[in-house]
Amino acid sequence: MNATISVNGHISDAAHAVVPVFDHGFLFGEGVYETLRTYHGVPFLFDRHMRRLRQSAGLMALPVPFSDADLLADIRKTMAAHTGGLQEAYIRILLTRGVGDLSYNPTACPTPTVVIIIKPFLAHPERTFTEGIRLSLVSIRRNHPLALNPMIKSNNLLNNALAMQEAIRSEAEEALMRNQNGDLVECSQSNFFLVRDGAVLTPPLAAGLLPGITRELVMELADELGVPARDERLTPDDLRTADEAFITGTTREVTPVFRIDDLIIGNGAPGPISMRLLTAFRARADELSVRRDKV
Ligand code: PDD
Repeated sequence: MNATISVNGHISDAAHAVVPVFDHGFLFGEGVYETLRTYHGVPFLFDRHMRRLRQSAGLMALPVPFSDADLLADIRKTMAAHTGGLQEAYIRILLTRGVGDLSYNPTACPTPTVVIIIKPFLAHPERTFTEGIRLSLVSIRRNHPLALNPMIKSNNLLNNALAMQEAIRSEAEEALMRNQNGDLVECSQSNFFLVRDGAVLTPPLAAGLLPGITRELVMELADELGVPARDERLTPDDLRTADEAFITGTTREVTPVFRIDDLIIGNGAPGPISMRLLTAFRARADELSVRRDKV
């Protein structure tokens, strides 16, 4: 694995980065994470990702043992240590409960573990943006918010992984999931949108989903472009009347969807509103990144 990793400030390559077996992140999946990427070498929307990390950690009573500035300095150090240089970086921050006895009592773990993974950012193939991708509506339901709240961007990704396994078996590139009521919520690694009669619609946070940073920005951009955009309860029946569909996520930006299982969306090609939002998103990413100092 071509990666550079910081474990509690110790930087190494992937083969030498280790976390103890008694870390509750490993034992119980007790931890939170964020995935960021750089544009022009600058971690994109860093402040928003930090806000969500703190919110996720708060929902599981996990202390965050760093300031945003300290973490950014450690990210920069880890990026600088990457041999061979980085065009653009994939950045994954993990914060776990830390090492402790085999007990669910949080006081068993006095010190959280902080891991920063840096890899070269490999964009999804350009055809995923120009032609769109295929989703599968999977049978695995998104975690019930009263059982494991999807608002927590948890290291425990079994729900997501099982959904994605099903999508892969259907030869789809993402898994579209429903909640406990059968309403559409989000995908295994991205948020879901559809366009109907010129309006951009996405399931509400109350449906039980991760508040995506890209989702948030795309709603703002739609507003700026004068495209009506709102969150609204969506069911699988709504897919039949959708003119367009797309997903959003840090690594996917705005990726059009042309097909969901056997259902062709719109005319089977990326729709005009999806493409306008992708263009606006990329322009904003460029604009926000070149304004800042290079990392
Ligand atoms: N995934 N929903 C889920 C379940 C996700 O895991 C993600 C992000 C999103 C989109 O969030 P954002 O726009 O903030 O990236 C929605 C990241 C990329 C990951 O799992 O690595």
